[in-house]
Amino acid sequence: MNKEIVLSARNIHCSYGSADSSIKVLKGADLTIKVGEVVAVTGPSGSGKSTLLHALGLLERPEKGKVFICGEDGWALSSRKRAELRNRKIGFVFQFHHLLEEFTLKENVMMPCLIAGESDEEAGKKAERLLERVGIIHRASHFPSRVSGGERQRAAIARAVIMKPDVILADEPTGNLDTDTSAEVEKLIMELAEEGRRSFILATHSQDLASAVHRRFFLSSGILSEDE
Ligand SMILES: Nc1ncnc2c1ncn2[C@@H]1O[C@H](COP(=O)(O)OP(=O)(O)OP(=O)(O)O)[C@@H](O)[C@H]1O
Ligand SMILES: [Mg+2]
Repeated sequence: MNKEIVLSARNIHCSYGSADSSIKVLKGADLTIKVGEVVAVTGPSGSGKSTLLHALGLLERPEKGKVFICGEDGWALSSRKRAELRNRKIGFVFQFHHLLEEFTLKENVMMPCLIAGESDEEAGKKAERLLERVGIIHRASHFPSRVSGGERQRAAIARAVIMKPDVILADEPTGNLDTDTSAEVEKLIMELAEEGRRSFILATHSQDLASAVHRRFFLSSGILSEDE
């Protein structure tokens, strides 16, 4: 496999429900992402953007199809190996940020490092550097419910990149943000991609965000197509 390719998905099918009343959400999606590329997946609500990200991120097994992360066939691995691959290579920003409410922003950002076995001191230093980088170091000791939506989203992005993943999957990273705050988060994502040669796959309703990225895909009626 080409070394420059970080993620490649082949013929992804996903459906929900039981055999007699199932809905087909994805009908054979293909996608190839190179190092440092930022791509957007747009499509109406319910078209399957989150479903696609969960399959690509090795969180929910597709009915059919393969997902290669840095050349490794993610869904063919044992669940332990798959979790390892996910932790090393993939970062997530979930649709509703998913910060842990009982932890401060700094603790939330540190969490992946602690889970990976790093010391408090080491993880704390990294988290502080990143909070500084994303512009919310002054909110490090605040709890998610006590900061703005944009600050929560920056913390979620910092948490997603702290393990230096090759690809970050971000589900509506600018959802629920006002225009100016969205523009700032969008700028941050593009800068983080360039600085770290990181790839991002963004699911978004925002035409502004979609127009800022390198490549755009559209999801409709279960079919993923690239805008040329
Ligand atoms: N766990 C589930 N069980 C059953 N159906 C589901 C489940 N998750 C999603 N769906 C259905 O699958 C379809 C795709 O959902 P998905 O959340 O992927 O869409 P989306 O494009 O992310 O939408 P949005 O833009 O609103 O976030 C929808 O019809 C949804 O109702
Ligand atoms: Mg969604």
